[in-house]
Amino acid sequence: MIVKPPKILDQEIEWNKTETIVSKTNTAGTILYVNDTFCKTSEYSKLELINEPHNVIRHPDMPKVIFKVLWKNLKKGKNFHAIVKNLTKSGKYYWVITDFTIDFNSRNDISGYTARRKAVPESVVEKITLLYKTLLEIEKLKGEEASELYFNAYLEEEIGKGYNDFVLTLFQEELKKQQSKEKSAKFQKSLNWFFSSKYE
Ligand SMILES: Cc1cc2nc3c(=O)[nH]c(=O)nc-3n(C[C@H](O)[C@H](O)[C@H](O)COP(=O)(O)O)c2cc1C
Repeated sequence: MIVKPPKILDQEIEWNKTETIVSKTNTAGTILYVNDTFCKTSEYSKLELINEPHNVIRHPDMPKVIFKVLWKNLKKGKNFHAIVKNLTKSGKYYWVITDFTIDFNSRNDISGYTARRKAVPESVVEKITLLYKTLLEIEKLKGEEASELYFNAYLEEEIGKGYNDFVLTLFQEELKKQQSKEKSAKFQKSLNWFFSSKYE
């Protein structure tokens, strides 16, 4: 890997939250394509990113179990949504909701994956930060298996649905709140992509 991990700063990167951050990988998670917004937000150039593993922007605040569940779904050919805190080249962070979709070749085999990311409303970040902190602490003190067992029990007991549906519900609730408050058009625009007809 040509990219060295940065020193972590507790500082959000400024980015245009109406834009969509896109990347494509092969089946192993090696980056094949990134759009300009990906580069601007992550602070890496295309040359630095192409052919690198996607964990180049992995933030240490992200619990391992989230990626475990992500890969389990992708390998089964299931689209997935996740809320992810990412790391920039200078050590800053940005929160995104990511829509992962499966790419197929002409023989209908999985050829790779596409990730499209939008900004996450502050209220959603607050809720998910608490959960991720707990998962991370369990991982560090009790191991990955304990974290996964807690995660599954938490979803069953406190949420009543799987992680993917939990993430979508958090956004739908936020959208409803924003609609009722008639918040700024800019904020609406940043969410609309996720609430296009497929989720309504
Ligand atoms: C299409 C695609 C996009 C991904 N995007 C991200 C991302 O934005 N941030 C991230 O930390 N991991 C992302 N991942 C997951 C990484 O491949 C990796 O599993 C994760 O960073 C955890 O690293 P680790 O598996 O080395 O622990 C993505 C994977 C795929 C297939």
